[in-house]
Amino acid sequence: MKPWAAWLGLCGIACGALGAAWQDHSTTLIVTGDLQGHLEPCGCTTPQTGGILRLATLVKALRSKQDVVLLANGAMVNDVGKRDEIKAETIAQAYEEMGVGAINLAEEDARLGIGGIYAIQNSSNSRLVCGCVTPTPSLPLKDTRQEGPFLIGGASTRSRQIASDLGSQEIGLDQAVEKLISDAKGLDLAPVLMLDGSVSDADRVARKFPQLGLIVYRSPDNVPSAPRYIGHSMLVTAGEGGKGVVRINYDGSSFGVYQAIPLGPDFKDDPKVARFYAEYLKRVDQGGFLDRLPRSPSAAFAGSLACLACHKQAYDVWAHSRHAQAFASLESKGHARDPDCVGCHVVGLNAVGGFHSRALNRNLANVGCESCHGAAKRHVQHPHAFKLPTVKLGACLSCHTSEQSPNFNPLTSWPKIRHR
Ligand code: HEC
Ligand code: HEC
Ligand code: HEC
Ligand code: HEC
Repeated sequence: MKPWAAWLGLCGIACGALGAAWQDHSTTLIVTGDLQGHLEPCGCTTPQTGGILRLATLVKALRSKQDVVLLANGAMVNDVGKRDEIKAETIAQAYEEMGVGAINLAEEDARLGIGGIYAIQNSSNSRLVCGCVTPTPSLPLKDTRQEGPFLIGGASTRSRQIASDLGSQEIGLDQAVEKLISDAKGLDLAPVLMLDGSVSDADRVARKFPQLGLIVYRSPDNVPSAPRYIGHSMLVTAGEGGKGVVRINYDGSSFGVYQAIPLGPDFKDDPKVARFYAEYLKRVDQGGFLDRLPRSPSAAFAGSLACLACHKQAYDVWAHSRHAQAFASLESKGHARDPDCVGCHVVGLNAVGGFHSRALNRNLANVGCESCHGAAKRHVQHPHAFKLPTVKLGACLSCHTSEQSPNFNPLTSWPKIRHR
């Protein structure tokens, strides 16, 4: 059993032993990474890790035992538009509920524009920082935040891009780091750098500025099992997709006791953040985002029921498979109008003649015949004249991705739904 699993498994999350390994008068830092729009694991398979609901449970449990400083360094969203702004706002609200110390501005989030920055600042109690652009009266963004014994600074390797996203002037990375270090010295605080940049960027900064005890960087990998050291500087990242966090200890002079914690199902959902999330889904539903997805022209669909008359055997196999329940799975979880989910759980969401809603297209709800065989109305009308192309098992992988269906193997799965 992994150590984190042990302390959870033995006595649950509220147990007194949680902080036993950690010294008094020290500060615990929790580092989160890229969320990229993943507020919650999709629940397509179990167990899946991650999500801000479990994160809040972890942070609150630790906070009840010791001083905690939460550092958020990564992209909240991975796209632009009103829905991503609502997502970023929801994440910011959740971070504020967790008492976040600082959130570093990532270039992806800066693409939301000044309106997005306002939304994040209003929801997070102004925890967003970035030393990457010149402050202007219309841009509510500071370069650092003091929290506990730290002065936390945000910086980016893409300050030029951020400046152009926000209509401001860029401040170079090294200049931002120099200012962080000198401000921290003036205040007698330990400087902590959150970097919107990669491991090689972090290495370079660590070599140039050995005064930095801790640098948080971004990485597309899982949470590393050990930290990186350049001289005495500790370099950490919580990786991608919000799947886990890093916990470290600060004893008043140095950073140590590194622990990578995957946010597995042992962590219950925090009720308050679950409410924020439900509110997000409600806003997405009412905002009609599903109705406005781009669609391309396609041949006409017939719906699975239209195949029954001539392919009863195939229909019966399908009707008893999980595919025929795929939309119901979303409905029961409140995701029936969530553009992050519906595409893989219905027929033709990206096609003009495809699924819009159960009310309009009840026979295109769920993964249907035409999810695999393609639009087939002409075949229904003239089966001999219009033949359907052969489906290759590779077609399964458009939905059965490594994220949604990690254990999927077309060769062993096909027999479960074989219908010819
Ligand atoms: C890329 C395609 C894809 C997307 C996007 C997707 N799903 Fe799924 N989902 C699947 C596949 C494939 C399965 C079957 C997984 C398996 O059994 O291996 C599945 C299964 C499920 C199940 C059934 C789990 C069970 O066994 O009861 C639920 C519930 C579900 N998804 C919810 C969601 C939600 C909620 C979202 C959006 C947050 C989502 N899905 C987004 C492809 C997707
Ligand atoms: C349009 C998306 C999509 C495509 C294409 C797709 N699936 Fe699925 N599949 C799903 C979803 C969604 C579920 C989960 C439904 C649920 O439980 O809600 C699922 C579930 C399954 C299951 C039941 C779960 C299990 O492992 O027992 C099997 C088997 C399966 N798919 C096999 C296949 C095979 C084989 C192919 C290719 C020939 C395929 N699927 C293509 C979306 C898809
Ligand atoms: C009116 C009867 C009829 C209906 C309705 C019908 N089919 Fe067919 N289908 C046939 C016949 C007949 C063939 C054999 C065609 C041939 O061999 O010339 C066939 C063949 C197929 C094939 C094998 C490839 C091909 O085109 O020959 C697939 C796949 C198929 N049908 C899928 C579907 C799907 C999916 C639907 C519903 C959307 C559907 N069919 C509705 C009569 C029908
Ligand atoms: C998850 C994907 C998937 C779904 C859903 C699905 N099929 Fe198929 N179907 C296949 C694959 C893969 C084959 C085998 C390769 C081929 O013949 O194209 C196949 C084969 C067939 C064949 C035999 C074709 C032949 O040449 O003998 C028919 C008929 C057919 N499907 C009809 C249907 C009907 C009707 C439905 C809905 C009730 C349906 N399929 C749902 C994937 C799917």
